[in-house]
Amino acid sequence: MKKLIVAFVFAALPALGMAAGGGVQLQKANIDLADNASLQRGARIFVNYCLSCHSAAYQRYNRVGMDIGLTTDDGELDVDQLKQLMLAADKVGETMTIAMPQGDAKKWFGNPPPDLTVIARARGVDWLYTYFKTFYIDESRPFGVNNQVFADVGMPHVLWELEGMKKAVKKTETDADGNEKTVITGYEMVTPGSMSEQEYDQAARDLTNFLAYSGEPIQLKRKEIGVYVLIFLFFFFIVAYLLKKEYWKDVH
Ligand code: HEC
Repeated sequence: MKKLIVAFVFAALPALGMAAGGGVQLQKANIDLADNASLQRGARIFVNYCLSCHSAAYQRYNRVGMDIGLTTDDGELDVDQLKQLMLAADKVGETMTIAMPQGDAKKWFGNPPPDLTVIARARGVDWLYTYFKTFYIDESRPFGVNNQVFADVGMPHVLWELEGMKKAVKKTETDADGNEKTVITGYEMVTPGSMSEQEYDQAARDLTNFLAYSGEPIQLKRKEIGVYVLIFLFFFFIVAYLLKKEYWKDVH
């Protein structure tokens, strides 16, 4: 039995390594789901730069609007603000879909752009943040870019106007088995974008924040409810204990 468990753990190890981003050190996203301003900035980046290719088909605009705080003073949905996010939709109850047919997308990009509603749960927030920050120039690729955590990615660097275009600084290392491999040690800006490095870090964080919210819209509420449940259980325990004492008083 023990052997079986050990074998299982070792069999699972490579998968765990993959989940961490193929051995690449991931950068910490440090998102804050309670920060509505960040979620709103992230949503704006998402609809402007991503929704042309990727859908978030399990999200409705009006729900998103309420959740990220696009509300009026009396807590109603602020439709005017929400409309600014609705570049590809008319009605507030519509889902965040796109018009690009999957078949065409596959032809153009090799792989169709996947729906991003729950991508943060599949990849993790640190992976996403690192992904947005590690596009680099690679002339051998169809779009002229590659990515450090998603090797030979079929997506262009869509945020390049903001971040700029950078090239990777590489060095060749020999690992423990004597195999040579090239690793990226840093980046050098070639064409600066409209944002400073700090501003782009914040933009990547906001976008990651929005995707993390999208993957599980209820998570903020869930934690709040959890606290109330624990408080309730605590008081209920006292009541139950007193009741038990009362019932058993005459038995002993
Ligand atoms: C021009 C079309 C296009 C745009 C715009 C675009 N993407 Fe992509 N994206 C793709 C394609 C195609 C893939 C699939 C790449 C592959 O599998 O090689 C992809 C893959 C991804 C992945 C990896 C999915 C996975 O398999 O884990 C993420 C995350 C992602 N995109 C996020 C974004 C975000 C966020 C934006 C907006 C900032 C964006 N994309 C804008 C085309 C696009």
